[in-house]
Amino acid sequence: MLPDYYQFSLPTKVKYGIGLASRLGDELADFPGSRALLVTDKVIQSTGLAKKVIEGLKGSKIEIVATYDNVPPNSEIKVVTEAAELGVANKCDMLIAIGGGSVLDSAKVINLLMVKGGPLQKHMGAQLLKEKLLPYVAIPTTAGTGSEATQFAVISDDANSVKLPFAEDYFLPDVAILDPEMTATMPGKVTAATGMDALTHAIECYVGMNPNPVSDALALYAIELIVQNILQAVAVPNDLNARGAMLTASFIAGVAFNHSGVGIVHGISHALGGVYHIPHGLANSIILPFSVEYNLEASAARYARIAQIFGDSGFYPVKELNQLVARFDNFAVNQAVTQLSVVDEWLTKQRAQSLAGKLRALNQKLNALCGHPLSLREAGVKDNLAKLEQVVRTAMEDGAMLNNPVPATAEGVRAIVREAFSQDLKPIAVSKSELKAARTSGAVKRLKGVFKDEAAVYDILGNFFLKVQADPKLFAPLKNSGLKIRFNYTLPDAAIALDGSTDDKSKQIMTGDAARRFEPEVEFTLQADIAHYFWHGQVNLMQALARKEVIPKGNLPRAMRLLPLLEPLYELYPNYLRSRDLAKLAL
Ligand SMILES: NC(=O)c1ccc[n+]([C@@H]2O[C@H](COP(=O)([O-])OP(=O)(O)OC[C@H]3O[C@@H](n4cnc5c(N)ncnc54)[C@H](O)[C@@H]3O)[C@@H](O)[C@H]2O)c1
Ligand SMILES: [Fe+2]
Repeated sequence: MLPDYYQFSLPTKVKYGIGLASRLGDELADFPGSRALLVTDKVIQSTGLAKKVIEGLKGSKIEIVATYDNVPPNSEIKVVTEAAELGVANKCDMLIAIGGGSVLDSAKVINLLMVKGGPLQKHMGAQLLKEKLLPYVAIPTTAGTGSEATQFAVISDDANSVKLPFAEDYFLPDVAILDPEMTATMPGKVTAATGMDALTHAIECYVGMNPNPVSDALALYAIELIVQNILQAVAVPNDLNARGAMLTASFIAGVAFNHSGVGIVHGISHALGGVYHIPHGLANSIILPFSVEYNLEASAARYARIAQIFGDSGFYPVKELNQLVARFDNFAVNQAVTQLSVVDEWLTKQRAQSLAGKLRALNQKLNALCGHPLSLREAGVKDNLAKLEQVVRTAMEDGAMLNNPVPATAEGVRAIVREAFSQDLKPIAVSKSELKAARTSGAVKRLKGVFKDEAAVYDILGNFFLKVQADPKLFAPLKNSGLKIRFNYTLPDAAIALDGSTDDKSKQIMTGDAARRFEPEVEFTLQADIAHYFWHGQVNLMQALARKEVIPKGNLPRAMRLLPLLEPLYELYPNYLRSRDLAKLAL
């Protein structure tokens, strides 16, 4: 059923691609800002990830004029205040954050302090900002928080052992770069914990009090991606396919919970983070199965749906089912009951209940792969839960509790935390069939500056078209379509036009001024290098259009109909280059 009201927006431009961070300058060509404050942490510096981005900015108008790399896991007030002072002192007019949720959240609050000034406590709350902050680029290096797609930031107030929540629409980055390579260096335990955070976002927002059809759709797909890829990402760290799926899942789960909220798991894990400094995703992973049991009555149908994504075992003992139906001993009643919804409901509840076990089993498999802790005791709570009451009190005050489908009670929270502390789960070995063949292919390597000048474009591409024209079979698609088409090249500037409407062979291919004077039905503007990749069959035109690498004008659908017919040319072009002693240009 649809809610009475929902809204949806995603002001952030999100760009996904292997190796994208290393080409950041190209991706930010139109970005409003040039003096960047880089926010990151020491680990990201030591892995070389920050360097990759800095090099990717070379030659662009964006310069990193100050770097703050002291953000700790679970950033705190002193850190964001210091970083904001650095940004202001260096007259930074934009921010780039490279890191996990701690860094991305910090950048949001640093931005706030740079624009509005401190102290931070003055800004605590939700939707207090009335104006835009400085332009902000977020590059996540964990696949978990989805901070690149949310209005939220959480900063620790260490003096008071609490986490301060902030929620501002203006926190959303202007651009988010999702590059799987940036997450491949995550150790197994961080991959597991952060991945479980993303799963928790998707599950909690899907069963929460503020469902929204758009976030429902996103949450379900995020769950599917995580279920299919989390073990793989932990077991085979450089599988960029699994990394990309996790990064995408984390992002779309972020979009989902940004609209529909989280629940009791986050309420408790924020408290566990503040009081016991347990990493956020890890605390979520341990608490998540308990939330299913806690919320079962209110959310059975939705949990059942999630259980199916996990792969419903279909194990509903016939005996129990028979006993249920046998309770209605009259045949007619029995029949009616079977047809009525009672059995359905029973099955739904069984499925829903099974989800808690499936989530625990997932944790146990992660434990077998990387030592992912399975209880709060294993997660580092050393004092036999002496601060239990502080955890309960803090959790009960957490805003996430308001969105839980069953009202959270102190007794309920206490019982969950106790059980989560003492439970004794064992690792479950991961079978080979649960992992996939690794796909580690990196970004497609491309030559740059293939054509040294306009004449080179005509020499190489112009003569290629002449070669195609010389073979009636290859030229037939254009001829039969009667299409008039022009390619406007940049870097270097050049133009080639093709006229399929004339039988005069000398007018079918034009270059230079003749091409520029020609009136085509459709024209494409693109870098000459892109054309070079295109004729190798290495450009997905739909993607290139989306990336604005190719700008069309005119009757695009007519031209698109030619695409499938061009396939033979993708083999011809590199062979043509080789035949002309241009082999070094063949990809
Ligand atoms: N904004 C939101 O919507 C939102 C949602 C959930 C959580 N959070 C917050 O995010 C924070 C947690 O973020 P997180 O779970 O991403 O962890 P994190 O940012 O604290 O990172 C965990 C550790 O992993 C390291 N690391 C990160 N990326 C790495 C990489 N690619 N290679 C090697 N090491 C890497 C970090 O240096 C750090 O030591 C918490 O403060 C939490 O409250 C925010
Ligand atoms: Fe979270």
